[in-house]
Amino acid sequence: MNIKIDNKAAFTATVTPEAVEALKPAAIQAINTLETGNGAGSDFLGWLHLPSSIDEAQLSAIEASAQLLRDECEYVIAIGIGGSYLGAKAVIEALNDNFAAYKPAKGARVLFAGNNIGEDYLHDLMTLVEGHKFGIIVISKSGTTTEPAIAFRLLKDMLERQEGKQWAARHIIAITDASKGALRRLATQEGYATYVIPDNVGGRFSVLTPVGLLPIAVAGFDIRALVAGAVEMEREGNDEMIAYAATRNALYRDGKKIEILVNFDPRLHFLAEWWKQLYGESEGKDHLGIFPAAVDFTTDLHSMGQWIQDGERTIFETVLSVGDQHHEVVIPHDDADLDGLNYIAGRRVDEVNKMAELGTKLAHVDGGVPNLLVIIPTINERYLGQLIYFFEKACGMSGYVLGVNPFNQPGVEAYKKNMFALLNKPGYEQESAAIQAKLRH
Ligand code: PA5
Repeated sequence: MNIKIDNKAAFTATVTPEAVEALKPAAIQAINTLETGNGAGSDFLGWLHLPSSIDEAQLSAIEASAQLLRDECEYVIAIGIGGSYLGAKAVIEALNDNFAAYKPAKGARVLFAGNNIGEDYLHDLMTLVEGHKFGIIVISKSGTTTEPAIAFRLLKDMLERQEGKQWAARHIIAITDASKGALRRLATQEGYATYVIPDNVGGRFSVLTPVGLLPIAVAGFDIRALVAGAVEMEREGNDEMIAYAATRNALYRDGKKIEILVNFDPRLHFLAEWWKQLYGESEGKDHLGIFPAAVDFTTDLHSMGQWIQDGERTIFETVLSVGDQHHEVVIPHDDADLDGLNYIAGRRVDEVNKMAELGTKLAHVDGGVPNLLVIIPTINERYLGQLIYFFEKACGMSGYVLGVNPFNQPGVEAYKKNMFALLNKPGYEQESAAIQAKLRH
């Protein structure tokens, strides 16, 4: 097990090592609650032993579907939102070459849709794939979510007109509930290949199901190593999770209401987006919960850095601290030295980045921002698998320590109800009348 927590710089005058130790029994109790399945939301614990239960047949089937799409399509569009999108996006972005979008693709290029309702986004996407062979992975657990449904209706129609219904049906894969929902009915009717999102795995905990694994495999990455990493964390990671859950809850109880996930590697931007969903949707309820935010350093040191150093002292930072880069770039000597950089000539860019990381930590701790490190040896499938499972289980534990049900998301329905009422969706007549009356006042 390779991911490590360092919470030494998280301690303050009031959040002492003893205060964190005092919360550890609650974190351990939360593990017991998860394992025995007697806590709130216990019908959504399918992710808990998911990594170790994925078998050879499942992995081979996903790899075969991925190979078909890689071999026969130039683009594969993964349609989904929230938990049906962010995990795959996070892993693919973390593993990809930073400029993959501008280089020739080795297999199919994975694109994403259905995660917004931007009209120009959909127009630009359809223009890009027009006249090219493309496949679709449509992902929706409920099978009724508006954003992916709109994108799928448009892209399915386009693909069928472009390639014919038969070719389209062979290159559309649906990932949805085993029996319920509009997408399941459609997939059955059209004869699409399908994968199931287990009933007991919520969207934001589903990256290690076909929801994440299929797009990741289509992008050409090693899903076996990803799963193997998650299994390692499932078997050996409790101590690190306890340390993280206890420390962040101790900080929260001391008034640190905002946790900022920090990276110093641009490839981790979407991992933070995935983490924000995981923790925000799991903990933010009953008027409780740490607000999960994220920054990309050193980029955001030139924007949000001011607020973090000097703003309201209600924040703490969790830094994703990555060991080795995959490539070496050395800063050259320049005889004129007009930029004054010769003092670092001959040194690696990563050495400068590491000093920026250390310097930032020291400055922020001096400025009253407690700092936790999540240390990752390097970015690869295995360590991302460990990290994903680490954050998932620590999230379930943290939610129980906080006293909420970490596995529901009642708050996300409010905007949908208003949107349906405003669009006069059948069945929303009363809400439509009420919202129109509200808008008139
Ligand atoms: O975590 C969740 O449950 C949500 O973010 C869902 O994943 C998201 O709303 C998409 O739902 P669905 O897969 O049903 O389309």
